[in-house]
Amino acid sequence: MATRRLDGQVAWIGGGASGIGAAVAELFAEEGARIAVADVQTERGETLVRKIGRSGGQAIFTPCNVTREVEIQASIEQAVEQFGGLQIVVNCAGIVHVGPLDDYREEQWDELMAVNVKSIFFAVKHAIAELRKNHRSYVVNIGSVSSFVGQALTPAYTASKGAVVQLSRSIALDYAADGLRSNCICPGITDTPMLRFHLSTMPDPEAALRERLRRVPLGVAMDPRDIAKAALYLACEESSGITGTSLTVDGGYLSAAEWSTKHTRFMEL
Ligand SMILES: NC(=O)c1ccc[n+]([C@@H]2O[C@H](COP(=O)([O-])OP(=O)(O)OC[C@H]3O[C@@H](n4cnc5c(N)ncnc54)[C@H](O)[C@@H]3O)[C@@H](O)[C@H]2O)c1
Repeated sequence: MATRRLDGQVAWIGGGASGIGAAVAELFAEEGARIAVADVQTERGETLVRKIGRSGGQAIFTPCNVTREVEIQASIEQAVEQFGGLQIVVNCAGIVHVGPLDDYREEQWDELMAVNVKSIFFAVKHAIAELRKNHRSYVVNIGSVSSFVGQALTPAYTASKGAVVQLSRSIALDYAADGLRSNCICPGITDTPMLRFHLSTMPDPEAALRERLRRVPLGVAMDPRDIAKAALYLACEESSGITGTSLTVDGGYLSAAEWSTKHTRFMEL
């Protein structure tokens, strides 16, 4: 078999059971990495791990609530024990609350910030000793287009995603001397269970999606695998020299202040 980009690497993926995280797990396994999927969704996680195994990859599921430091620590230790090291940490766990700020309860704000931001602190804190043992290591965090622009009725989410970009930069500075590169991917509208849940709160989900996609120059939702490919790039030496940056994968969404897509070749099957 030709050399794969992640042969010999071990990747811990927070929020790896669904959507973007699951696509990262599958692609990284195809590229030769051994994968630890850390998530609260046990059934989904175990199904994914079996799927990776059937395709010839190696993966374990570690049940983990990423808002709890002890669980992240145990999950990372389990990955290291199972696979004998750790080179890549991908933080994909995320949640969204929809509503104006004055409707939020303090617990909702705290929970969202804990899943979307504090989890990255815990993961890096408990992975860094292992990551430092390697000549090269990688942290990839998932931000959003709302790391850069406001978005209606999701004030905590946009604040959390702005923080993810800044945290990714700070990690890049503090651990560059250890051979670690830290970067952030900022997806646009991506067809995952999170997006489908968000749309389901609207009166006509399909119409709402069509309306949103008119705002995207390519005219289509990103596939989770589009985001995974960007994560792969940032988790291997093809991106050598890149650290502290944010890579937007949004079909052009942030390139225009106003836009209305009619038809593109990307919309054709
Ligand atoms: N889908 C989009 O359009 C979109 C756009 C921009 C950014 N993002 C970001 O991408 C990331 C992945 O989202 P997705 O769209 O794949 O959603 P998703 O809901 O399919 O996946 C999120 C995963 O995080 C896990 N998770 C949530 N809370 C957790 C916790 N406390 N502990 C452990 N795991 C937890 C979920 O179980 C799930 O597996 C998120 O950070 C999200 O904010 C998504």
